[in-house]
Amino acid sequence: MNYKKDFPFFTTHKDLTYLDSAATSQKPHMVIQALTDWYTQYNANAQRGIYDLGEQATEKLETVRAQVAQFINAHSKEEIIFTSGTTDSSNKVALLWADHNLHAGDELVITQLEHHANFVPWQQLAHKKNLKLVIIPVLPDGTLPYNTLDTYFSHKTKFCAFAHVSNAVGTYHDVTTLIKTAKKYGAHVLIDGAQAVGYMPIDVQALGADFYMFSGHKMLGPTGIGILYARRSALEEMEPALFGGSAVYSVDESSTSFAQAPYKFEPGTLPLADIWGLGAAMTYLTSVGLPTIQGHCSALTKQALTGLQQLPNITILGPVKQLQHKGHLISFVPHTIHAHDVAALLNSYNIAVRAGHQCAQPLGAALGYNSSVRLSFHIYTTPDDISRVLIALKEILGS
Ligand code: ALA
Repeated sequence: MNYKKDFPFFTTHKDLTYLDSAATSQKPHMVIQALTDWYTQYNANAQRGIYDLGEQATEKLETVRAQVAQFINAHSKEEIIFTSGTTDSSNKVALLWADHNLHAGDELVITQLEHHANFVPWQQLAHKKNLKLVIIPVLPDGTLPYNTLDTYFSHKTKFCAFAHVSNAVGTYHDVTTLIKTAKKYGAHVLIDGAQAVGYMPIDVQALGADFYMFSGHKMLGPTGIGILYARRSALEEMEPALFGGSAVYSVDESSTSFAQAPYKFEPGTLPLADIWGLGAAMTYLTSVGLPTIQGHCSALTKQALTGLQQLPNITILGPVKQLQHKGHLISFVPHTIHAHDVAALLNSYNIAVRAGHQCAQPLGAALGYNSSVRLSFHIYTTPDDISRVLIALKEILGS
């Protein structure tokens, strides 16, 4: 089945091979239509208006909140906080939960594979509050040392933040084991699902993490909208730290009483059209089926890996066997030409890929590279796209 026809971007860019979906995905027609519908039919501010359109805007906002809860199997829609993206979500966990629940001497555990958005907030918080940042090292194949996991935790471990899927090398982490281990020590856990949601079914209750975050724009939705799931018990430990309208119950000159969660964590006007678009993205993903998307992407990954393994002078990063079975991105380091030059040359073939440190510099330092080339896919990517990039890479890298 060719899903490309559902994405108007490819009508504009007929000859483009777009292999940068891990940076941002393209949008199906129904998401673009939802944005137009919002501005042409529904636009009014939510949570304020005592008139039909204002009340309908509030209803639509809450409909999408409930849809998100169902999409990731949260227990209730009140556990869903709208943010502007994954980066905003991790910063909000730091500001609204960690800043006042963690104390000097407490330990935080992350991994060397984290995206900067799930690394820098914890590093900076550790500096600010005199916490110890424990970093689980990556193994050469891009996986984690599960056999010695306990050595990174102690009774001082209070918080952990782990990627579900590595944006840089594509590893699918065993988050169930990571969460179980953290829970054994009584720590709270945040999972960065930026590269997981929209590619596979997510069940936050089965996972048992306290927080789960992701971005709309990587799951076929608009930019500017993201999600922070906070389990009810964690939600109750969060305190507002960003203030404004609609997040309050009442204000007088000396004090404020705040609205219930999640509303007290969403001051100001939310990106309503983008939220409506996110709803359409989830409807599209559900209609295609997440197992279908996962199967489609892993078949493309297998095809790409088979071709890449025949090319000279490159090192493929990440767990190759695992990527053959599941995965939607592959990174490699070219030996004889800089990764940026590979991307620039691919651009001359009308092929878009990401090259650089992939916002995961500690990982590059650990594995001994500065820059990699990343190919990443989604439901609209075709086997022909993979053949095109393999032919171009053969010409660029020699055979
Ligand atoms: N986080 C995005 C990426 O990995 C931007 O490319």
